[in-house]
Amino acid sequence: MKIAVIGQGYVGLTISAFAGETYQVIGLDNNPIIVDQLNRGISHIEGVESDQLKRLIKGGNYIATNLGSDISDADLVVIAVPTPLTTNREPDLTFLDAACKTIGVNIRKPVLVINESTSFPGTLRNFIKPAIERYSNNRLEHLYAISPERVDPGRSDFNQKNTPRLYAGLSKEASERTREFYSKFCDNLIEVSSPEVAEAAKLFENTFRQVNIALVNEFAQIADALGISVYETLDAANTKPYGFMKFSPSAGVGGHCIPVDPTYLAAVAEEHGVPATFIRRANEVNLEMSEYIVKRVAEDNGGELKGKSVLVVGVAYKPNVADVRETAAELVIEHLRSRGAVVSWHDDVVGTWRGEKSSDLSGADISIVITKHDVVDAKAIMASAPYVFDTTGKLPQAHGL
Ligand SMILES: NC(=O)c1ccc[n+]([C@@H]2O[C@H](COP(=O)([O-])OP(=O)(O)OC[C@H]3O[C@@H](n4cnc5c(N)ncnc54)[C@H](O)[C@@H]3O)[C@@H](O)[C@H]2O)c1
Repeated sequence: MKIAVIGQGYVGLTISAFAGETYQVIGLDNNPIIVDQLNRGISHIEGVESDQLKRLIKGGNYIATNLGSDISDADLVVIAVPTPLTTNREPDLTFLDAACKTIGVNIRKPVLVINESTSFPGTLRNFIKPAIERYSNNRLEHLYAISPERVDPGRSDFNQKNTPRLYAGLSKEASERTREFYSKFCDNLIEVSSPEVAEAAKLFENTFRQVNIALVNEFAQIADALGISVYETLDAANTKPYGFMKFSPSAGVGGHCIPVDPTYLAAVAEEHGVPATFIRRANEVNLEMSEYIVKRVAEDNGGELKGKSVLVVGVAYKPNVADVRETAAELVIEHLRSRGAVVSWHDDVVGTWRGEKSSDLSGADISIVITKHDVVDAKAIMASAPYVFDTTGKLPQAHGL
């Protein structure tokens, strides 16, 4: 079976690597640099090893392309393109629309289309199917299904094989063929009664994380005002063996999912006349953390940051990955610069960001730790400035949340 995977990023390349062990995979991406790298067997994603990619290419089980016409004889198409927010923070389905166009224009026979991109309930039924039909002039009758992706880049204990996967088709046949496809590389497949349930479950999973992170971030501020340790208090609460799940405070949320997906849920809720005030407020609390942290750092340093050299340590949105999408470091840097601080950043895992190279981990007046990668030495961070503020809870000797 020939599988086309549209989008070769975190989700698309991961699924391609797993599917490539059984099927022939064509990875379609409109970024020619990524395509070129992939065809040379170089993975740009944590969790997909270059050696595996090289082996799959050699065995004829993987090839990357940026030509839509190359997927014309696929038997199954997986969509894994970004679903970001517009500048007005509304769902942006333009990438999804472009993927539908690629399918509509190029695919020559009836196929199963599986969407793995995260979007609001109703996207498969009311957006993807009609768009593909429109772009193909209703030439073919495809099958449609959704199977939301749960990959956690950089994580080694859970992967495609042992992470339970939800799925649902628009028809019985679509569901059955979806199960058959994933069953070759996923141990636990859970069918739900409609695509809308699968789409909503994915959004709710991430909204659950978003509101709990916001809650603990608000609590960090309360704990500081009360003069008690947020970490000790959370550890104490966590001794309750039931009804409690520990989340840790941070400079905010980053990545493609937690800062974005809840807004998809809020948008669809509001469209149906349900005010999603809780979700909206959680998002605001997480975004406000950057300002709170800069305020705390300023207060500890005589109320003034003007002219001080501040090193932001760790600009990836989470440890041990190079992903900087929606990173809280960006807002922290903005707030520091608006107070006149001279800001640089250190993150050798990321290397280059916004056209700037990672600075040395030394010589600053103030260091603020946003993300602590395992490879970064805690002692070196503590020696990088006379004042260190830690937002990760990993540097007990530092000032912090
Ligand atoms: N990253 C995660 O951890 C994660 C987890 C679960 C779900 N998701 C969801 O999966 C989807 C993809 O996310 P991602 O993290 O893989 O994004 P990504 O940015 O890592 O990768 C997307 C890729 O798609 C390509 N692309 C964009 N439009 C295209 C088009 N029309 N044709 C071909 N290629 C195109 C881009 O060049 C990019 O390489 C999103 O909806 C996201 O919310 C992501």
